[in-house]
Amino acid sequence: MRTTIPSSIHFNVAFTLSCLLFTLLPGMSSAQLSATFYSKSCPNALSIIQSAVKSAVRSEARMGASLLRLHFHDCFVNGCDASILLDDTTNFTGEQTARPNNKSIRGLNVIDNIKAQLEKSCPGIVSCADVVAVAARDSVVALGGPSWNVLLGRRDSTTASLSAANNNIPGPNFTLSQLKSSFSNQGFSEREMVALSGGHTIGKARCTTFRSRIYNDNNINAAFAKSLQANCPQSGGDNNVASLDTSPTSFDNVYFKDLQNQKGLLHSDQELFNGGSTDSVVNSYSSNPSTFSADFANAMLKMSNLNPLTGTSGQIRKNCGKTN
Ligand code: HEM
Ligand SMILES: *[C@@H]1O[C@H](CO)[C@@H](O)[C@H](O)[C@H]1NC(C)=O
Ligand SMILES: *[C@@H]1O[C@H](CO)[C@@H](O)[C@H](O)[C@H]1NC(C)=O
Ligand SMILES: *[C@@H]1O[C@H](CO)[C@@H](O)[C@H](O)[C@H]1NC(C)=O
Repeated sequence: MRTTIPSSIHFNVAFTLSCLLFTLLPGMSSAQLSATFYSKSCPNALSIIQSAVKSAVRSEARMGASLLRLHFHDCFVNGCDASILLDDTTNFTGEQTARPNNKSIRGLNVIDNIKAQLEKSCPGIVSCADVVAVAARDSVVALGGPSWNVLLGRRDSTTASLSAANNNIPGPNFTLSQLKSSFSNQGFSEREMVALSGGHTIGKARCTTFRSRIYNDNNINAAFAKSLQANCPQSGGDNNVASLDTSPTSFDNVYFKDLQNQKGLLHSDQELFNGGSTDSVVNSYSSNPSTFSADFANAMLKMSNLNPLTGTSGQIRKNCGKTN
């Protein structure tokens, strides 16, 4: 037998639910993004970005990695709003000198070049934040990785945050527990964190980011550590680079096989396979490349949708390096 609920309770439940919905909506502004955002206003936008990325990656494969990382470092700092692209001025300090970015982010010139082409085709229409999001996807595809449909319509910030860049972007010395909290602060599960970390299947890192790992860590393959030491001495050579995995210009699942062999380059990489709760995910991505590809694409789509500016918030910068 069904019990009769007094109508005031019905009302209260409905009222509470709609309040909850309206409270959640602002955080769900990615609902306003759309795959066809520029199809009338700038129909060539996607092809302009794609051909510029292809040509940049053809002349230097590592650029694909650099463009992927740029999107990650943009999105983890108050959302994907191109804040990372704002240059410092005498009045303003942006994110580029934050610890994770200083002397380390690359690809700003590629983004500027794409933006200049877009301004010629359709002035004032395509945001820098969308350019970075699409360029990251096209980079992964150019290096043999999976594709996903980037939702569009992000707008550009008028400000940036040095302190948020220092606080929100995880560091190479992080423990598993620090990594987990950094990613869960952005709404990612452990599994999504491991998938996104697979971004380290491409690109390089500077000696300064892995020196303590190759001299002090115990969970590292001894021959691997030794092979890296010549180009990354105990002192000096800070900017010398090493590959993040054994196939740094192919977007594949070798990064996870490397972790299983204790050949993670960064301390933080090896934390994902060090007897803890994420080992099983690493094992799964190592034996099932298509599972990794699918999870990576889904997690990238989720990362791309973090906290965008939409509607009349922010602006469409004319020049990605400064506000209008
Ligand atoms: C899990 C936490 C992460 C940490 C601690 C971390 C840390 C680092 C560090 C220290 C470097 C080398 C930077 C340098 O030497 O200047 C690097 C490079 C890179 N990172 Fe990450 N990262 C993380 C997650 C990610 C994610 C989620 C992505 C993308 C989805 C990503 C993509 C890259 C790429 C592609 C490079 C190579 C860039 C290039 O060659 O220019 N990383 N990362
Ligand atoms: C710096 O601030 C002054 C005073 O607010 C302003 O007039 C000037 O345009 C600013 N310069 C830059 C480069 O933003
Ligand atoms: C950025 O790196 C340069 C060169 O390594 C260094 O001189 C400078 O102090 C760094 N800036 C910050 C803000 O850390
Ligand atoms: C990592 O930790 C080591 C040892 O504590 C330290 O010497 C090194 O500067 C740290 N590296 C980074 C990139 O923070």
